[in-house]
Formats: sequence, structure tokens, C-alpha cells
Amino acid sequence: MSGHQFGGEWTTEKLERLREYLCAYMRIFSKNSHAARYTTVYVDAFAGTGHRVDSKRGHAGSRLFETELDPDAAAYRKGSARIALEVRPPFSRYIFIELSAERVAELELLKRQMAPTPDSVKIVNAEANQYLAHWCSETDWRQHRAVVFLDPYGMQVDWATLEALGRTRAVDLWLLFPLGMAVTRLLRRDAPPGKHWADALTRIFGTEAWRTAFYSKRDEPMLFEVESEQRRDVDWRDIGRFFVARLTTIFAAVADNPLPLRNSRNTLLYLLCFAAGNKRGAPLAVKIAKHILEPRGVRGELLQD
Ligand SMILES: C[S@@+](CC[C@H](N)C(=O)[O-])C[C@H]1O[C@@H](n2cnc3c(N)ncnc32)[C@H](O)[C@@H]1O
Repeated sequence: MSGHQFGGEWTTEKLERLREYLCAYMRIFSKNSHAARYTTVYVDAFAGTGHRVDSKRGHAGSRLFETELDPDAAAYRKGSARIALEVRPPFSRYIFIELSAERVAELELLKRQMAPTPDSVKIVNAEANQYLAHWCSETDWRQHRAVVFLDPYGMQVDWATLEALGRTRAVDLWLLFPLGMAVTRLLRRDAPPGKHWADALTRIFGTEAWRTAFYSKRDEPMLFEVESEQRRDVDWRDIGRFFVARLTTIFAAVADNPLPLRNSRNTLLYLLCFAAGNKRGAPLAVKIAKHILEPRGVRGELLQD
């Protein structure tokens, strides 16, 4: 088995919050007689392998050894697919989407070990946006309710995919938005990005409105003429709020307290966002998610000032 190295403390934070939501979701769907009629689906569209090897702590070869020595530390290194498979009661169905064939092979192993029933886990070796578009259109949303977790490294999630998920009116979305990892880096302070990166930003925001929302024109008096320049005069919080506002245009309700995730050097990496698609379920879903997203410990911080 190869290792899948990513993340650090912030990954643990992210996955713990996902786990809490999945447990709350399945508690509601198993106890509430209206909700219990639905087939519940968990979709992990950037599924990885089901485990992770902390980049600071070694490689997969040492995993078994470390597990034997320190079971708690090993528990922290579960990936999202494994965490979802551990939820009780389990979801009716699990779909794990992963682009890398090598990681798909590891997911197959995980399925053999942990699938509640052989048919309840589907592993798809595909590009996430493409597969989700197909899945959204082929699923009978009168009978299904789903939690979708989008955990990309960077800017892989297209706005069109979020729109398709919102249109189902049946999906609760957990999304890692690459705010510090990519978006604020592309939004240079001294000038708007060139066409290639501007197109990428438009793809992730689903609108060109970011240009006027983030940049303003200023006239700089030069020696012989006045030169007009554009500068970014918003910070990461404003950009995060802009994205959350965008989500409210396609989901029934959105948590207004997405969680900023920072690495050990305090560099902002991602915003962990939540949106609920079903009008009837959204108030409770967002209430639970907002509670789960609350900052914990000394490093907690809010998107709001
Ligand atoms: C951050 S990792 C996911 C980690 C996983 N959620 C976990 O907790 O174990 C991102 C994964 O997405 C996969 N990936 C990257 N681009 C993809 C795409 N366009 N479609 C599907 N999977 C993709 C990568 O191979 C990688 O395994």
C-alpha cells in the first residue's frame, strides 16, 4: 500500500467536524419517521485512500508499527472515506470518487474490510466534476438524500458542480474552499490576475463579479498624464464572505461561519464551508453545522470581524 501524505492538525480538525456532522445526520435519518423513508447516500468526491499519513510523521511503511504503538495517534490518521464508513447507523449507500487508479485500489481494499454490505459501497475511478454532474442528473431525488464532501487540494471544484448539487434540493454539502491555498494568491493586490488565472477564478466563483467586488480603479498622477490602476482592496475575510454569499444563491441555506483552516505556520489554507440544499431540512442542518463549525481552542477564529 502506498501512503497518502497530506495535511496536519488542520486536517484532523476538518475530518473531526465532518465525522460529527455525519453522525448527527444519520441519527436524524434513523430516528425521524419522515426522514427514515429516504435512501441516505454519502459521497466523497475526492476520496483519497481512506487513510492518511501525516506528512511530518513518516510514511505508510511505518503505519502498522505506529498503529500498534499508539492506537490514538492512528485513529487521527483515518481519512474521510474510513471515517464515513465507521458512522453508525451507516448510510444506505456510499460513493467514493477518486481520480488516481492507485488510490482507487486502496479504496477497494477498504471496501472489502468495512462495507456494511457488499453492494452498499461504490468506488468510481473518475474526475469528480464529471461524475457528480452525471450522478446529480441520474438520481431520483424524491427518494434520496445525500451528504457530499468535496475535499480537493486546490481549485478543482467548478461552480457548475455546486450548482448541480444545489439543484437536487436534497444534498448537504461540506466543501473545502481553497481560499488561502490558491484564491487569495491569485488575487494579487497590485493588479488583477491575467486571463488564465482570471478564468480559473471565474470558474470557481461562477461569476465575473469578483472583479468589481475585489478591485477598484485608482487614478495615479504620473509626470505627464494620469494613469489608471486597479488594486485589490479587500482581505481574505471579504473574499470568504463573497464566496459564502455566492453559495446562498444556489443552496436553501448556508452556514455563515465557515471555518478558516491554517497550517502550523499560521498560514491560511482553506475555508471549511457548509450548505444545505433541502428547504425543509435546511434550518436544522445549518443549525447543527454552525455549531460544529464554531472555533475551538486558542487558535479559533471567525470569518466575521
Ligand atoms: C486532499 S485529498 C482527499 C483526502 C480525503 N478526503 C481524506 O480525508 O482521506 C484529494 C484527493 O483528490 C484526488 N483528486 C484530485 N483531483 C481530482 C479530481 N478532479 N477528481 C477526483 N479526484 C481527484 C487526489 O488523487 C486525492 O486523492
